[in-house]
Amino acid sequence: MLEDINLKPYNTFGIAAKAKWFTELQTEEDALNFFKENNLAKTPHLILGGGSNILLTKDFDGHIIKNAIKGIEITFEDSTEVNLKVGAGENWHNFVMYTVNNSFFGLENLSLIPGCVGASPMQNIGAYGVEVKDTITKVYCIDKANGSKRTFDKGECEFGYRTSIFKTKLKDQYFIYAVEFKLSKKPKFHLEYGAIKTELESMGVKESSITIKDVSDAVIAIRKSKLPDPAEIGNAGSFFKNPVISKQEFKQLKIKFEDVAAYIQKDGSYKVAAGWLIEKAGWKGFTEGDYGVHKKQALVLVNYKNAKGSEILALSERIIKSVKAMFSVSLEREVNIV
Ligand code: FAD
Ligand code: EPU
Repeated sequence: MLEDINLKPYNTFGIAAKAKWFTELQTEEDALNFFKENNLAKTPHLILGGGSNILLTKDFDGHIIKNAIKGIEITFEDSTEVNLKVGAGENWHNFVMYTVNNSFFGLENLSLIPGCVGASPMQNIGAYGVEVKDTITKVYCIDKANGSKRTFDKGECEFGYRTSIFKTKLKDQYFIYAVEFKLSKKPKFHLEYGAIKTELESMGVKESSITIKDVSDAVIAIRKSKLPDPAEIGNAGSFFKNPVISKQEFKQLKIKFEDVAAYIQKDGSYKVAAGWLIEKAGWKGFTEGDYGVHKKQALVLVNYKNAKGSEILALSERIIKSVKAMFSVSLEREVNIV
């Protein structure tokens, strides 16, 4: 256990907050012992993966538990499918590259998302027409209250758009130590997202001969063209979720804002592009002090150098108010505020 650690290298926003205690768990056994031996009920604590979906707004007067459990194990395989049980501390993108290199289909659209495997079920990560729930079969957890194990089947995880039971009903109750995925050995591409087809065309790839690597490369190229690299500019990806509104609310919005970017959902509701709302409200490229709104993607708030988390949180408040006043739409944060 380390003491008085600077968390700047541990969060992609690059916020310099201090933590009182810091423990890294490297194996499942480490984790079981840790939660059996430490009663965390009265100690503020935070489980940390890659720190790419958190905003630290102050020093953390408690215990940071960094998950570093590694390993990729094949738990089932036949001629058409493979199941992989993956340590929660594996880097997400490295794991996706492992699946791409082995032609295990299903995760290629989720290339280059920062963070660790263990956080992927937390908010059901998604990009370019795929959500991780489409491939997850089991989430292996430890109950933080008593150190006992519990495995959640996919159906129990209550996955939704950027949410799961671990972010809602069972928030802060479980430590995820591994996740199991079922991937296909037969090609099954998800090319519905317009930008992927356009990117594949510009790469000179013919639809009849697309490979898993082509799809992954196309996704990586699109992401690099839009999203800031946290190694250069601090950020946590989309700061807000895309708000889902009713058909009636959408009709009202469309009357006033003819060109509003929105997508109809299976249940008839509409998912509105928050980036569009924020841009129309005049925030795109906004800069103040060391923080601001990314100039290429209005959904991404950024720390240019030494911004405080509290300043970025205050900026997000201003954006929420301004979008509400202009469009009567409520934005909800995707990033976890600590
Ligand atoms: P952390 O930030 O470390 O943790 C996030 C939350 O999960 C915290 O509340 C933490 O306590 C909890 N947690 C983490 N690990 C565990 C565990 N093992 N057990 C229990 N709780 C845990 N997300 C998308 O969905 N799609 C995208 O396209 C996308 N693009 C991004 C692009 C950029 C440039 C960045 C910086 C972020 C992006 N994100 C995206 C957000 C982020 O990468 C994901 O949410 C990722 O899964 C977070 O992983 P992490 O390990 O960094 O989680
Ligand atoms: N748009 C604007 N201005 C902007 C940004 C976006 O008008 O500044 C509009 C455009 O019309 C664009 C539409 O918004 O067509 C959608 O933009 P984009 O394709 O960039 O996707 P997004 O809705 O902004 C979502 C996810 C991303 C994910 C991409 C690709 C959320 C909150 N965000 O962004 O996830 O990578 O789609 O699938 O759902 C994340 O969660 O951190 C994240 C980066």
